Amino acid sequence: MRTDTGQVYKLTDYKPTDFVVERIDLTFELDPKQTKVVSRVILHRREGVDAHAELVLDGDELSLDSLQLDGNDIDPSLYETTPESLIIRGLPDSGPFEITVSTTLSPESNTQLMGLYRTNGVYCTQCEAEGFRRITYFYDRPDVLAVYTVTIIARKDDAKYLLSNGNFLGGGNYDEDRHFAAWFDPHPKPSYLFALVGGDLGLIEDSFTTMSGREVALKIYVEHGKEGRAGYAMDALKRSMKWDEDVYGREYDLDIFQIVAVSDFNMGAMENKGLNVFNDKYVLADPETATDADYANIEAIIAHEYFHNWTGNRITCRDWFQLCLKEGLTVYRDHAFSADQRSAPVKRIAEIRLLKAHQFPEDAGPLAHPVRPETYREINNFYTATVYEKGSEVVRMIRTVLGADDFRKGMDLYFERHDGDAATIEDFLACFVEASGRDLKQFALWYSQAGTPSVSVSTDWNETSRTFKVFLEQSLAPTPGQSRKAPMHIPLAYGLILPDGSEFEGQPDGAVATDGVFHLTKRKQSYSFTDVCGRPVLSINRGFSAPVNIAMEQSADDLVHIARHDSDGVSRWQALNEQATRHLVTASKLARDGRNLPSASELAGILVDTAADESLEPAFRAQALSLPSESDIAREIGSNIDPDAIHAARQAVMSEIAAAGLDIFTDLAGRAPAGPYRPDAESAGLRALAGTALSYALMAEGQPDRAKAAFDAADNMTVLSQALQVLTHHFPASQDAKEALATFKARFETDPLAMDKWYSLQATVPGAQTLACVESLLNSREFDRSNPNRIRALIGAFSAGNPTGFNAADGAGYRLLASEVIDIDRRNPQLAARLLTAMRSWRSLEAERQEQSRLALVSIRAANNLSPDVSDIVDRMLAS
Ligand code: TRP
Ligand code: ZN
Repeated sequence: MRTDTGQVYKLTDYKPTDFVVERIDLTFELDPKQTKVVSRVILHRREGVDAHAELVLDGDELSLDSLQLDGNDIDPSLYETTPESLIIRGLPDSGPFEITVSTTLSPESNTQLMGLYRTNGVYCTQCEAEGFRRITYFYDRPDVLAVYTVTIIARKDDAKYLLSNGNFLGGGNYDEDRHFAAWFDPHPKPSYLFALVGGDLGLIEDSFTTMSGREVALKIYVEHGKEGRAGYAMDALKRSMKWDEDVYGREYDLDIFQIVAVSDFNMGAMENKGLNVFNDKYVLADPETATDADYANIEAIIAHEYFHNWTGNRITCRDWFQLCLKEGLTVYRDHAFSADQRSAPVKRIAEIRLLKAHQFPEDAGPLAHPVRPETYREINNFYTATVYEKGSEVVRMIRTVLGADDFRKGMDLYFERHDGDAATIEDFLACFVEASGRDLKQFALWYSQAGTPSVSVSTDWNETSRTFKVFLEQSLAPTPGQSRKAPMHIPLAYGLILPDGSEFEGQPDGAVATDGVFHLTKRKQSYSFTDVCGRPVLSINRGFSAPVNIAMEQSADDLVHIARHDSDGVSRWQALNEQATRHLVTASKLARDGRNLPSASELAGILVDTAADESLEPAFRAQALSLPSESDIAREIGSNIDPDAIHAARQAVMSEIAAAGLDIFTDLAGRAPAGPYRPDAESAGLRALAGTALSYALMAEGQPDRAKAAFDAADNMTVLSQALQVLTHHFPASQDAKEALATFKARFETDPLAMDKWYSLQATVPGAQTLACVESLLNSREFDRSNPNRIRALIGAFSAGNPTGFNAADGAGYRLLASEVIDIDRRNPQLAARLLTAMRSWRSLEAERQEQSRLALVSIRAANNLSPDVSDIVDRMLAS
């Protein structure tokens, strides 16, 4: 395994390569232990580059078998080779030449899941970000674009299908036991988009006719016997292809689009040109084994990877610092797609929740970094919520600032001007500046300044002059490496809601505000509205137009007014959520100090009314009823966190709400969409409301019968897992919970994705006693330590999704994670580093837990042979 050199890469060090790659021709002879790779690369020296400059290629754990120049062995005195690089001297000064590099790999022993590896008997590759260098020596960087031809040879009984990027050239028998296939991808691409798959798989096929009338073959490969679970993914793919044509005018550009689902995968999925590889969790779905959330994730991720074909593949990144250029933009596009396919406000509420739960804590802790980082030690650690989710919010703000028309013009210009390029954020922004005539210099700070801005808001109402004033002030706290910050351009959508619930139509005097958006660009700004007929209530950051924290003293009555009357559904939810957050924060602090909790009757009244309001869509009501999570409350409190106090306070508040609305909750808990299971958003919304109501009903009733009955009657995984969750989380020690867990296990034992849910449910049972349960599950014979989904389902769920269990005051949870991280790091550094980020907010804990956390982190740092991935995370977390 690669060990840490501590090397730091810098954005400002960018330099193009000395040689230009024209074409690459790869031949693979697949074998589990000894795969032979021959790479023939045609290059020429870049104009103006010194005639003595060496060719320096990247490698990772490679050994060279042979090396030729234009077909002749190169004299050993003219090259140097190590596992990490191949350096060749004395190459021709002018004209193209061909280098032939041969290497041998053992896919079977590749446990990092980067490069060429084997999963369930299937050969498969993962090359982003720097996995191609584990296959052959090459310029493994995103600005080196080449046309690839790939020939794959394998035993027929070992690999029935032989796949790579681009269009199929041909294939057939190679020798007695072996066959071959050849693929050609006409679109120049960087090495991180290379893919190869070989294996015996099940296949479902369909086709799509593009807007210009070309027919594209669509193929999804899954494990044998699971073909019946790939239909929803295929449907989502066709809808994505159509949507990108309708909304962005983007057409698919090969004769075939293929997706392969594998069970061992480090992340969600990968957008390799024409051959996406997916974690099977994001492909396989049927009513019996997948939840509504699984269906929604599949739809979003299929779309995401497909949309990369234009934002990522046709236009790629100059270097990895520009990662948000493809990821933030593509997340933005998949969000818009899902909003169009489902309920837009409900989708937006889910996005806000996710951003606050994952990105805000990142921005507030030791791992904070700009949307476009300026340095890194290990790029794998920058596939973060900041790059993806905040990166998407930044694109969304560009649209808010420019308006829909100029945004689309800018995107069109970007596609036209940069097709075939490895581009930068500056290139991207220049297209919007040109298309709109606007200046985005200050706006660009969103890419370079880390941290979540705070905007404090105050208002003043003058009854006699009928004038309403709004005062805004922004601030941005220091983050690692950035002590002083400049004011940002923050677009805050707003509305003034009048006493009768209607909206004030007038514009403010003087300052910059357009179409209901305040453009806050200075540290302080104020706005004055005149001729307002009665005291208005300010609804600010509508739709979460900017990813900021708003600090505003707004009375409970004003929040209720917004929750009742705001024309924007997202804002109505924001007002309810703000009410709940405030109450929970107050109650949690009192609980921490051992004091009595305030009555929650006011909050309960509002939420019960919302639950009962049949004019609201069920999915919205479900969102309103799901209180801020314990981590949400911790984030709002910010320091001296006691997770047990937060849990106790939140449970008490839930009980009060439950008691206040028992009749309504029992009624709602029993409602279900008519007919057989369908995954559409409306049915899912009904099930979400019923599930949330069930949880309240159980709390009020104090006994598990209703959940047990729901579990026994369930005819789909959504309802089954909801029932199992409330049963195990509210009544962990009950006989019913134990029996239900056993029943679930007996039924799904041979289905890894369903069993992942079984592990996660147990790992997230609140309370200190869960640690012992997690340990015994970890140590059981049937626990598969090599499968990332399984590790995440148990260790990931416990450490990132169980505040009271993981943060046990004696530090046992932290020690468990530390020892697992050290162990997993030996096999799969990327996975280990990601698991460790669960501790990123350790400094906001109360003193004792902070000390226990620190000790656990120090023990990791002291371990031998840590990977660059884990070293980087642990060093940043401990830096003061
Ligand atoms: N580019 C992929 C996406 O966002 C994610 C990705 C990056 C990835 N690195 C990876 C996936 C490593 C698996 C393994 O769609
Ligand atoms: Zn992506």
